[in-house]
Amino acid sequence: MVRLISPILATQFTIFFIFSFFAINLVVGDDGFARTMDKKLFGMKKEKLSHFRLYWHDIVSGRNPSSVAVTAPVNNSLTGFGMIRMIDNPLTMGPELSSKMVGKAQGFYSFASQEGIGLLMAMNFAFMDEKYNGSTITIVGRELVFSEVREMPVVGGSGLFRFGRGYVQARTHWFDPSTKDAIVRYDCYVLHY
Ligand SMILES: *[C@@H]1O[C@H](CO)[C@@H](O)[C@H](O)[C@H]1NC(C)=O
Ligand SMILES: *[C@@H]1O[C@H](CO)[C@@H](O)[C@H](O)[C@H]1NC(C)=O
Repeated sequence: MVRLISPILATQFTIFFIFSFFAINLVVGDDGFARTMDKKLFGMKKEKLSHFRLYWHDIVSGRNPSSVAVTAPVNNSLTGFGMIRMIDNPLTMGPELSSKMVGKAQGFYSFASQEGIGLLMAMNFAFMDEKYNGSTITIVGRELVFSEVREMPVVGGSGLFRFGRGYVQARTHWFDPSTKDAIVRYDCYVLHY
């Protein structure tokens, strides 16, 4: 049995649907393959600024290096120009390698300067600890390793760091000139939701 809806109710429904149709179109703005989304519905409320301090271990010597050269410097360049090292460097909470590991710095750095030592860093900080497990931030920038403080941009992130942006400051904590092993302190400042 079909029950008839009263004409008044029917009109109200029609008005309601017309309004919702327009409302959706105003907010969403359909463009065929692209559409504007409501940030709030996406869980993006207030942007947060997080700071974390990590120690980055560049282990180039020994039996289990975490940093390995994959190309040689061009023409034995004294500044290393042309060399690329792939890294899977531990990131720890304290300066000692034995302190808690919270993630790995994965990527590479390359010697990009023909005058003095200037690196191009391109790496993801892949976090493995607790709620950050699986989240990453991506750092791409220039590093003059002999400067006291090196600033590099955080160009993005994933997981908890979606829409991430910011910068890091790197400071050499320890360097062994004979083995070339280094520990670098990273202070990361990241805006994210
Ligand atoms: C390497 O050095 C040789 C000899 O000095 C020179 O002819 C050549 O152009 C250099 N190659 C590069 C890529 O700089
Ligand atoms: C992090 O996530 C991976 C993959 O989902 C999982 O295998 C691992 O046990 C997790 N580690 C921690 C410390 O929760």
